[in-house]
Amino acid sequence: MWGKRDDMVVHDKEPFNAEPPPAALAGQALTPVDAFYSRNHGPFPDLDPATWRLRVDGLVDQELDLSLSDLQRRFETRTEVVTLECAGNRRAELLAVRPIPGQVPWGPTTISTAEWTGVSLADLLVAARPVPGAAHVAFTAPDVSPSVDPPQPYGSSIPLPKACSGEVLLAWGMNGAPLPRIHGGPVRVVVPGFIGARSVKWVQHVTVASEPSDSYFQAEDYRLLPPDAEPGPGRGISLGPLTMTSAILSPDHGDRLPAGPTDVIGYAFAPEGRRIARVDVSLDGGQTWTQAVVDDPPSPWAWQLWHLVLDLPAGPVEITARAWDDSGATQPEFPASLWNPAGYANNSWPRIRVDAA
Ligand code: MTE
Repeated sequence: MWGKRDDMVVHDKEPFNAEPPPAALAGQALTPVDAFYSRNHGPFPDLDPATWRLRVDGLVDQELDLSLSDLQRRFETRTEVVTLECAGNRRAELLAVRPIPGQVPWGPTTISTAEWTGVSLADLLVAARPVPGAAHVAFTAPDVSPSVDPPQPYGSSIPLPKACSGEVLLAWGMNGAPLPRIHGGPVRVVVPGFIGARSVKWVQHVTVASEPSDSYFQAEDYRLLPPDAEPGPGRGISLGPLTMTSAILSPDHGDRLPAGPTDVIGYAFAPEGRRIARVDVSLDGGQTWTQAVVDDPPSPWAWQLWHLVLDLPAGPVEITARAWDDSGATQPEFPASLWNPAGYANNSWPRIRVDAA
């Protein structure tokens, strides 16, 4: 479906929400497009690259109205390897703590890494010249989410300093090919280090403003609420930068496998200029740990893969991991301490149970 692998875990067909089986990500720094997770709030728009236009307006001196070839000719092309992660990645573990009605029960693979080609949003903003009072940059797309009352197009925003930082892309290429429609073609925003919700697909409008976007997806959704709070506009912590996380990709939860030396493979991700410095793996719930080999990230904006060989004893066994970043921060032990009503930002220790014989 939609050019994805047959074994994708499809949570919803419409809007299409799917993540790859963990083994499809194991050991691969770049995620093939057919395995890249897909998160949508409405049906995909079908935009013709030949007639697509991007408008840049709001608190700027010079409004812009650009075709795809204007974008490609007028600004320097950049290619960056960036990991995208949905704020709902690993929600299933929060759901096991307490129900979260109406939200997709994502496993640990709502995260993927691609090489994106496009132009720097910062270069467009230099041409548009934000005026005093400008503090946020909002993105709007034409896909309408029927689940929001009243239904509304997808939108989001990021703070102006992030928008001007150079790494935020307006991308038309993914892994060396034109950006597929399912991932936002002809052009999407890629915001490295921020929750995937800010990387607006099918972008048509960039607005420089004094306040964050008033889109439902910025003002009400993608916010971290206290456990017993009701959602509402402006309530809770608006999620921007991602939290450090890690997961075990192989073996998979529930696998039956031979006892003895076993490759254990996973990813860890430290966004916003930090690096994963160490990954510990335990077979006894965290009483003793063995350090994994942690690969260099393929770019400052990407995850790091890790691996080690562990001697699995016969019988049921839990494999646990925890990552540390280069500031000395690590992951919280249990999802219960992180539970929140919409089920975001679960970065607790990953745990899988396997049966070795
Ligand atoms: N952009 C539009 N226009 N519509 C959407 O539904 N979903 C967002 C973001 N951009 C979305 C969007 C969310 S929540 C995520 S996690 C990423 O796109 C997912 O990008 P992908 O489907 O290319 O993996």
